[in-house]
Amino acid sequence: MSDLSITVNGLHFPNPFVIGSGPPSTNARVIIKAFNAGWGGVVAKTCALTENKAINVQPRYGKLKSPSGDTVGFQNIELISDSDFENWENWFKQIKDEVPDKPLIGSIMESYDKGRWQEVAARSVEAGCDALELNFSCPHGHPEKGMGAAMGQDPAQVREVTSWVKAAVDVPVWAKMTPNITQIADPGRAAVEGGADGLSAINTILGMIGINMKNLLPKPTVQGHSTPGGYSYTAVKPIALRMVSELARALPNTPVSGIGGVTCADDAFEFILVGASTVQSCTGPMLQGFEMVEEMIEGLHARLEQHGFDNVQQAVGHSLQYFSTHHGLVELQAEAKAAKAARRAARDAAKEMITDDRQWGTGSFQEEAAALVTED
Ligand SMILES: Cc1cc2nc3c(=O)[nH]c(=O)nc-3n(C[C@H](O)[C@H](O)[C@H](O)COP(=O)(O)O)c2cc1C
Repeated sequence: MSDLSITVNGLHFPNPFVIGSGPPSTNARVIIKAFNAGWGGVVAKTCALTENKAINVQPRYGKLKSPSGDTVGFQNIELISDSDFENWENWFKQIKDEVPDKPLIGSIMESYDKGRWQEVAARSVEAGCDALELNFSCPHGHPEKGMGAAMGQDPAQVREVTSWVKAAVDVPVWAKMTPNITQIADPGRAAVEGGADGLSAINTILGMIGINMKNLLPKPTVQGHSTPGGYSYTAVKPIALRMVSELARALPNTPVSGIGGVTCADDAFEFILVGASTVQSCTGPMLQGFEMVEEMIEGLHARLEQHGFDNVQQAVGHSLQYFSTHHGLVELQAEAKAAKAARRAARDAAKEMITDDRQWGTGSFQEEAAALVTED
């Protein structure tokens, strides 16, 4: 049986499936449910010191459906946790008491202030977090205050804030990247320069889910109005795979936690093949339930065995070797065409040559035989 466990930055995950920061990790009760359902790790809902806590609106989600009625895209205008940070400290302690052996990763966000970042980081670790994920990536609400994606789009701030947190705590620190940027490797590199042990990608893509055809109001609709929000689920997977592969290629020694549209084992395996050592899912469990991890565990065992991998680590980044530039593809194609033409020319020449048995053996005997076979 293949081994699904993986150790990343010294953290032992019984399987690579991690709950992404969001509603499936929004308090101690749901986090414990996720662990009990079989998830290998959890990134908690992002929290901040109490004065920075969020005020949410209802409704705050919208769906994009395919013509056949399946949900393919999901949008939220949810902010970070609306709970007091003191609640989070109690929840972290409670979770570690009840589930001591699976990685609990705290997710933190703060304003551009060294003292605040260091305090929220140190208190989260003191309360029991095994690692921290720095939210440099929430695309809505927080950027208006210079937080979240506003920080993540500025590599200098990413570098500096990461170094503040690394100086304050002694646990692995992952920086969560925003996809709302042209070159994701730039903030990724800055985070590593600041001391990040790993990168998580991607957070949601800033989007506008649609307009209600009955009343022409944008969705999700709050008091007749809306605002652009974070887009996730199946529709974002191609973008997430591309960005994870870019980080993996630019920073081959930095573990990446792949996120974006993971709904099943094969989605997760694709992230692993392009360089992720753990895979997070957030909208998946919201729409499919925590039990989706059972199919993921079974399906990943099957895929690893099908392709001869003994464990997850062996598969990490396997498919990166098959990527090139478009120019590279043109060259490969030209080389293949030239080789085919050379083989055909050799066969034609041999065909000309063997007009009686005395001529056999003057060139490649195999080519001569091949030349006398009727082509299909
Ligand atoms: C409703 C909702 C709330 C989220 N809240 C957070 C959050 O507080 N912190 C964070 O880092 N990411 C948050 N995310 C982003 C997810 O963790 C994840 O990066 C993104 O949704 C893409 O993955 P998915 O397609 O599996 O959902 C949230 C996503 C959703 C859908």
